[in-house]
Amino acid sequence: MPLPIGFATPSITDEDIEAVTAVLRSGWITTGPVAAQFEAELAEVCGVPRGKVTNSCSAALELALRLVGVGTGDEVITSAYTYAATINAIVHTGATPVLADCAPGSFLIDPDSVAALITPRTRAVIAVDVGGLPCDYPALAQALAAAPAPAPTATVGEAIGRIALIADAAHSLGAMLDGVPAASLVDFAALSFHAVKNLTSAEGGALMWSAALQEQVPGIYATASVLGMQGQTKDALTKTLAGQWEYDITCSGYKWNMPDVLAALGLSQLRRYPANVRRRHELARLYDEALTGVDVTCPRHVGSRHISSGHLYMVRAEWDEAQRNAVIQELGDRGIATNVHFKPIPLLSAYHWLGDPAVVVPNALRAYQQELSLPLHLALDNEDPALVAHHLADVLRQGRTSRVAAQGVA
Ligand SMILES: Cc1ncc(COP(=O)(O)O)c(C=O)c1O
Repeated sequence: MPLPIGFATPSITDEDIEAVTAVLRSGWITTGPVAAQFEAELAEVCGVPRGKVTNSCSAALELALRLVGVGTGDEVITSAYTYAATINAIVHTGATPVLADCAPGSFLIDPDSVAALITPRTRAVIAVDVGGLPCDYPALAQALAAAPAPAPTATVGEAIGRIALIADAAHSLGAMLDGVPAASLVDFAALSFHAVKNLTSAEGGALMWSAALQEQVPGIYATASVLGMQGQTKDALTKTLAGQWEYDITCSGYKWNMPDVLAALGLSQLRRYPANVRRRHELARLYDEALTGVDVTCPRHVGSRHISSGHLYMVRAEWDEAQRNAVIQELGDRGIATNVHFKPIPLLSAYHWLGDPAVVVPNALRAYQQELSLPLHLALDNEDPALVAHHLADVLRQGRTSRVAAQGVA
């Protein structure tokens, strides 16, 4: 595509528009049969028997924590290298977030760092599949299996019988690890369908749970539905049926449901998702080739154990934060939008109290200073990765005499 190149342009087809329009014309636009169909097909992709769609991944994360029984006095370990939604969900429950570091040279949580942070108060761990790369769930599960089980405070927590393992899979729908969907290796996986994600419903999310949980807690779907619908015993569609108006509120629940209008967009996108992920991998491969000889590294989307969802193309270089920011500005001036994933949580004003990142999570801080996310989306042509790589290399070369140099690149 000609410059300018956007960072994460959404892919919306005529089929998507028709699917949404059909719901708009159907006489029922909020949560109903289309949402149910979407969650059933998502579960298949995730290799699990069932899940629940929500209005965001943020809601799905909090739903998982509340189902486990996480609350005041508990600790939840998560990665410092994530978006604020992961931490906010923990804080909303009254629990204390405890920040694990990235593995050295990686954007992903370090299982050894997690193991070292476990205390008798730890009730859950949320690992984050940054960029669509799955975390090492078998290693994380091993660390949790070795820890004492927390005293149960909810049926789901009791069924898990140890510290719960939750994937923040906002980026990683369909990612594979050791030959199976990564989402099937955890107790819960929380997905995002926000506008910039691989698959979008404009806003939306879903919580998937393991086959073991579905078997041990057959009522988990009903519990999740009631919790996400104000604690109401009937959904809105059932209430509209003749004589079905009456309902009860059984807990002070939340408003987390996904309307059918949005589910229709998600479902339509899901039908072409495998082809979209293949295309993202192809573009990532073209980036890999084009960046040969440029002084950057990036995690591979396909490895001996994993296949990512191809969500982000993240490069790292030996620049400091100011130099990286100057590169972003120079590329922006040339019409190429780039981004940074992520600012480690303790750098954010609301979370300074979690400590000095240079001390508590030095690997995450270094990853942040070195990271640059290049455009990766379906509007890119085959020539675009080479074009972006060319400009990046040129900025690095030219930068020695311009804005980048002013920031200290010799
Ligand atoms: C890692 C991560 N977790 C959670 C979220 C929250 O997703 P949502 O916007 O669907 O609530 C995001 C959103 O960007 C994210 O990047």
